[in-house]
Amino acid sequence: MRLQSFLYVLAAVLSGAFAASIGARKHNPDLALPLYSSGRWIYNSKGETVTYVGGNWPGAADAMIPEGLQYQSVSYIAGKFAEVGMNSVRLTYAIELVDQIYENGGKDVPIKTALVEALGTENGTKVYHEILEHNPSFHKDITRLEVYDAIAEELYKRGIYLHLDNHVSKGMWCCGTDGNGWFNDTYFDVHNWLRGWQYMASHGKKWKALSSVGLRNELRSPASGYAYPVNFEVWTEYMTKAAEVVHKANSDVLIFFSGLNYDTTLHEIVYGNPLSDSSNATFDIRDYDFLHKAVFELHSYSSPTECESFWSSLYSDGFACLNESDTDVVNRLPVVLTEWGHSEEDISDAYESVYSTCLHRKAAEYKFGWMLWTVLGDYYIRSGTQDVEDTWAILAKNETVFRGVMSTEAVESMIADTLASDVDEGVYASQKEIKSWASYKVKGGA
Ligand SMILES: *[C@@H]1O[C@H](CO)[C@@H](O)[C@H](O)[C@H]1NC(C)=O
Ligand SMILES: *[C@@H]1O[C@H](CO)[C@@H](O)[C@H](O)[C@H]1NC(C)=O
Ligand SMILES: *[C@@H]1O[C@H](CO)[C@@H](O)[C@H](O)[C@H]1NC(C)=O
Ligand SMILES: *[C@@H]1O[C@H](CO)[C@@H](O)[C@H](O)[C@H]1NC(C)=O
Ligand SMILES: *[C@@H]1O[C@H](CO)[C@@H](O)[C@H](O)[C@H]1NC(C)=O
Repeated sequence: MRLQSFLYVLAAVLSGAFAASIGARKHNPDLALPLYSSGRWIYNSKGETVTYVGGNWPGAADAMIPEGLQYQSVSYIAGKFAEVGMNSVRLTYAIELVDQIYENGGKDVPIKTALVEALGTENGTKVYHEILEHNPSFHKDITRLEVYDAIAEELYKRGIYLHLDNHVSKGMWCCGTDGNGWFNDTYFDVHNWLRGWQYMASHGKKWKALSSVGLRNELRSPASGYAYPVNFEVWTEYMTKAAEVVHKANSDVLIFFSGLNYDTTLHEIVYGNPLSDSSNATFDIRDYDFLHKAVFELHSYSSPTECESFWSSLYSDGFACLNESDTDVVNRLPVVLTEWGHSEEDISDAYESVYSTCLHRKAAEYKFGWMLWTVLGDYYIRSGTQDVEDTWAILAKNETVFRGVMSTEAVESMIADTLASDVDEGVYASQKEIKSWASYKVKGGA
């Protein structure tokens, strides 16, 4: 009894110390890259599990420049991710950025040109000067990709993982029936997409914080009648092709596979079901060289009235992977919730909603990684309107302060609970699959 209560106190002290280290906003600058996946966990190069707790930093809209820089510096904004305790950033880009580099004889476009193109001469020039004013380290001809480089460098300095997400082909606000939705959709040229990944995965080798990539955000119904059929057979063909391109160009990065219907389901893949109505083929992750780089990603936006039924559909859509006792799972990979979010104004209906508290509880229970949509409070332009505030961001429009007190605390508390090491060994016992990573290394995979 005595010993037990002593252990309780010790555990409480240790978990308190853990929470305090998060509260003190300390980050381990050693990212211990590369990461790899084995079974349901992501590991770092020391064999320790890594759980992403992060936020989105959009950069795929019309100007194709990461947002917020007309209000604050790269360093200041990265510091805000760190301040709430986030360990990762999902930075989005558009394939059109790479297309324009090819059209421009291999040279990227200066942000000044891109801003004038997206916002018009007057506003584009104004925003350009504001960006330089807030980012004195930028030279006047800085290109878009050099802004990405600066973010990557800053994240590295702060010990924050960089997850690079291909959000769209044509740079614009996402997502609807907008021509960016599915393979061979109006703007979704598959060849350009693969070329874009070849380019970015190679370029990303010099980003010391780059830990993972997301092949494509929110696959969904196409606008064009020329697009390929929407099913997991087509998904398998092109997603694995892109993964091979990335893996060949940069064998260090994890590769995230998003699902169908706005990245809300990977059910057929996870459970090894037939890939389409007209085929008996199934997906087997072990067929691929990038096995120990593969990760599943899902998104969730919802307003459930009850947690367990909401969770049971997320579970069936892919989070079942995280339950090692669930033997119905055929392809077991880590699953990261790369987008979820709600208003970050101090409205209890938002941060205390069933949706928000349920995801918080399940992240703590299942130890899944997640990335909040969104952190940045403003878009240069969104759906034709300039200087648009995003109230779903934890930062206020001017990127300077947090939008809400209670809502930001809810995010901090979810981070602490997700990272707390109270793993139920019965359900989540793991580590054992590390052996297969060793054989992967022997095979020359990384
Ligand atoms: C310039 O930006 C402002 C918002 O900052 C907007 O109200 C105005 O419509 C924009 N001008 C043009 C020509 O788009
Ligand atoms: C892809 O779409 C284009 C039109 O955007 C069409 O011309 C082409 O035939 C389509 N490719 C295939 C293989 O269906
Ligand atoms: C799928 O498998 C079933 C049973 O083995 C078989 O009857 C059917 O012809 C197969 N369908 C296809 C499209 O291969
Ligand atoms: C894990 O899967 C087993 C077998 O299906 C099930 O009995 C158990 O409730 C699941 N546990 C969790 C936490 O999902
Ligand atoms: C930024 O916005 C917040 C909230 O609207 C405001 O309180 C603060 O004064 C602003 N700061 C600057 C530097 O503009």
